[in-house]
Amino acid sequence: MLEQEIIRMIKEEALENHVPIIQDESLELLLTILDIAKPNKILEIGTAVGYSAICFSKYLSGKEAKIKTIEKNEEMYQKAIQNIQKLHLEDKIEVIHDDATVYLEGLKEDNTYDVIFIDAAKGQYLKFLKEAIRLAKVGGIIIADNVLFKGRVLSDYNEHKHRTATNRLRTYLKMIEEDERLHSTLVKIGDGIAISIVQNK
Ligand SMILES: C[S@@+](CC[C@H](N)C(=O)[O-])C[C@H]1O[C@@H](n2cnc3c(N)ncnc32)[C@H](O)[C@@H]1O
Repeated sequence: MLEQEIIRMIKEEALENHVPIIQDESLELLLTILDIAKPNKILEIGTAVGYSAICFSKYLSGKEAKIKTIEKNEEMYQKAIQNIQKLHLEDKIEVIHDDATVYLEGLKEDNTYDVIFIDAAKGQYLKFLKEAIRLAKVGGIIIADNVLFKGRVLSDYNEHKHRTATNRLRTYLKMIEEDERLHSTLVKIGDGIAISIVQNK
């Protein structure tokens, strides 16, 4: 089977099973950024079934180039491993089975990542941002998906169960705007994408 056909089937299966994979228009933007950045090292927080990491892998630059992606859910992790094997991408994509809040604290790869994609629990984006700034190179790009949380971040009223995540995402947007180490922009496509370039540390 052709590679593109396998990727299409991974996407369809994920959508059928209500796995929240990246939206098409957001993916298009990210792939354009990767095409410009030509990354050698990508870190992804939130693998799900490996769909975004598989799409990103085509844009790695250099023989040793790699994606490290972190997933805490056992079932998702197993599915991601299977999908990556189907496409023979094991040497390009390393899936870590762990809680990223714990794993990242112990990851001693400071100043080495070209691109970091934050796409996991919204309530933890602030922790992820702190570690992402440490792990990114100067000139590196930190991208966070779902920062508008289906419009809730811009809305005056939200159901109680969504308030903590909504407030934390608002803080995330405020922090990336005010942090002098970053040059950030919010792109209102998909579920909202925040892009931050690490200018200095
Ligand atoms: C939005 S999905 C990722 C989608 C994937 N990036 C894609 O576009 O194909 C979020 C994933 O993050 C995982 N996750 C949530 N919190 C996490 C954490 N603290 N550490 C690792 N994975 C986490 C969830 O289990 C879920 O599979």
